[in-house]
Amino acid sequence: APAAAVIPAAGRGLRLGPGAPKALRQLGGTPMLVHAVRAMARARAVTLVVVVAPPGEAEAVRSLLDEHPPPPGVDQLVVQGGETRQESVRRGLDALPDDIEIVLVHDAARPLVPVDTVDAVAAAVRAGAPAVVPALPVTDTVKQIAAPSEPPGGPEPVVATPDRALLRAVQTPQGFDRATLVAAHQKHVEGDATDCAGMVERLGVPVVLVPGHEEAFKVTRPLDLVLAEAVLARRRK
Ligand code: C5P
Repeated sequence: APAAAVIPAAGRGLRLGPGAPKALRQLGGTPMLVHAVRAMARARAVTLVVVVAPPGEAEAVRSLLDEHPPPPGVDQLVVQGGETRQESVRRGLDALPDDIEIVLVHDAARPLVPVDTVDAVAAAVRAGAPAVVPALPVTDTVKQIAAPSEPPGGPEPVVATPDRALLRAVQTPQGFDRATLVAAHQKHVEGDATDCAGMVERLGVPVVLVPGHEEAFKVTRPLDLVLAEAVLARRRK
């Protein structure tokens, strides 16, 4: 079954500090987005990579990707992103050709995901799971609060401490049977889901977790860039 990767890359990356959109920032001398596209294009099942570009940057992203052509047998396509991740993913889905049966949604902000993780997610969908999410146990204990303090930085009363053994931190690529993911997006047009699998859960369709990978971490804050550079340097040795 042919698979496409949809890579939402339209976020501004404000938590990383001021500068270019996050996906266009460099990692080891190459934009983060190029790393993410390569990671997906190397996966066995992937025949198409759809990049969802920051508003106004579609042309720039197209020429950037032309400088880094995909391996033979893989096409790449750039569409314009939206206000939210959910809208950006929907625009990516709208651009898929008819023959695609499996969709892997992957954050541009996870540039170092190993190809084995991508292959494992795609294989689980191919084996019949409608929604597959790579995940890791959480290392921190997690507290629930009633509401974020306003303004941020103030004290926040705790309402619960969920059992850590039952919590998982989810990563991408999240893999879906195409029809299932499209149905989830048609049902929930409003909203700002940061996680496609959550939308599928609300349809009542089962979602399963498979083991994620430490190197699939999301580059969000400045310290994450330090870690990403170190991982890259270790790979290049
Ligand atoms: O903000 P967060 O780190 O959760 O973003 C995850 C991914 O979603 C990033 O790759 C980001 O570029 C993308 N995104 C998007 N469109 C938005 C917001 C985020 O494609 N409007």
